[in-house]
Amino acid sequence: MAILVTGASAGFGKEMCKVFVNAGYQVIATARRLEKLEQLHQELGEKLLPVQMDVTDKKSVDDALNSLSGDWARIDLLINNAGLALGLESADKTDFSDWEKMIQTNVLGLTYVTHKILPQMVARKEGHIINLGSTAGSYPYYGANVYGASKAFVKQFSKNLRADLAKDNIRVSNIEPGLCGETEFSQVRFKGDEKKAQEPYAKVQYIKPEDIANVALWIYQQPAYLNINSIEIMPVAQTFAGLKVYKNENEA
Ligand SMILES: NC(=O)c1ccc[n+]([C@@H]2O[C@H](COP(=O)([O-])OP(=O)(O)OC[C@H]3O[C@@H](n4cnc5c(N)ncnc54)[C@H](OP(=O)(O)O)[C@@H]3O)[C@@H](O)[C@H]2O)c1
Repeated sequence: MAILVTGASAGFGKEMCKVFVNAGYQVIATARRLEKLEQLHQELGEKLLPVQMDVTDKKSVDDALNSLSGDWARIDLLINNAGLALGLESADKTDFSDWEKMIQTNVLGLTYVTHKILPQMVARKEGHIINLGSTAGSYPYYGANVYGASKAFVKQFSKNLRADLAKDNIRVSNIEPGLCGETEFSQVRFKGDEKKAQEPYAKVQYIKPEDIANVALWIYQQPAYLNINSIEIMPVAQTFAGLKVYKNENEA
């Protein structure tokens, strides 16, 4: 039996590999940057299998998952973690290619991997899928436009998978984090602009990747009859967006 983590080369995914390997599980670490996965393999040893996979490319997903054999081919837990946000502009100012990339990764990519792995779980009548949603899937904020919408898809898809798969004894959970630092999320969002990337994490105690990885392990280790449907996590310092009102300065 193995655990498959998408987006394992950085951030939450990398930390999940460490936490699950240290807990004694076999982990298949997937991402586009094979060299990062190989470094992780050096660090964690034979319980980690590095496999290159681009979730936006259906053939890459098929080839990567078809290449698994023996014990590695039986996936008991799929963690759909690969994802990204691009930009923080008003919808009218965004680059359409950023919207496409977020939908390709966070929506289509997640569904390619899920669709490929589900049949083996259903055949065995056991398995667990943990998706990485976001508080952005529940609460709107300025500039979240397609990113938030893609995470709302993940939230609803998780619930609909539950509806379909309870009969097959398959568990489905959605982790919905708020502000989390020490990942590449913000560097990717702001396309390498370090100043902008650092700004959200200044003067605030954010969530750390190991917090999310430990939550994933806890969800997975619950008794087999229990399903954690969703779990929303924020730093204490963060709260709901609030309903912003723009005043008309020309009015009396
Ligand atoms: N950080 C936060 O504040 C936060 C909050 C809520 C939710 N989330 C969600 O949590 C997940 C992980 O975020 P993170 O903060 O850990 O981000 P991160 O540090 O940027 O890591 C993202 C991972 O996704 C992988 N990835 C991106 N595009 C991919 C693709 N096409 N195919 C395969 N892998 C791909 C990256 O690997 P390669 O580049 O090597 O492919 C990387 O390993 C995301 O779904 C994100 O939306 C993050």
